Amino acid sequence: MSVKEYISEERIKTRVKEIGAEINKDYAGEEIVIIGILNGAIMFCADLIREIKLPLRLEMMSVSSYGDSTESSGELDIRLDIKKSIKDKHVIIVEDIVDTGLTMTCLIERLKKLGPKSLKVSTLLYKPARSKHDVKIDYLAFEVEDKFVLGYGLDAMGGFYRNLPFIGVYES
Ligand code: IMP
Ligand code: MG
Repeated sequence: MSVKEYISEERIKTRVKEIGAEINKDYAGEEIVIIGILNGAIMFCADLIREIKLPLRLEMMSVSSYGDSTESSGELDIRLDIKKSIKDKHVIIVEDIVDTGLTMTCLIERLKKLGPKSLKVSTLLYKPARSKHDVKIDYLAFEVEDKFVLGYGLDAMGGFYRNLPFIGVYES
């Protein structure tokens, strides 16, 4: 099996710049907290924050969700949590992919309890065909088909391929 390019490095760069510009406009004059979700969002988050020209604090979380009721409230396993309070802060979650939407739904529920002034979601990818939990995505880079994607932070085969500079799919 080999990997075929699905979204090129150039297209990613262009889209990340556009999203950065949108955030700069939407939050002009404000201070924000970005919460990057490890490990998948590492590249998207690193590239996106360099396009943001606002006072910004960076937090990272590592989470996974389990349980799969179609209503929200799966369980969220937090392996790494934020270090400083987000109370009364403008917060943007930066994630790699919203697939079924369970992880993001659980994460939003949890962060809302911490009292942010606002909470928005930015994700690199969204797979509408797989969506089971409605998630409002405020800043989306790309919608993708129902294919397993890898690269640019996303892994396959238990942790590999994150270092690809583009987003790929398997080709048999
Ligand atoms: P959820 O189904 O929306 O909760 O997504 C859970 C997690 O599965 C995401 O944060 C990704 O880490 C992973 N994931 C889902 N689809 C893909 C994919 O196509 N490639 C790589 N990881 C994926
Ligand atoms: Mg993830």
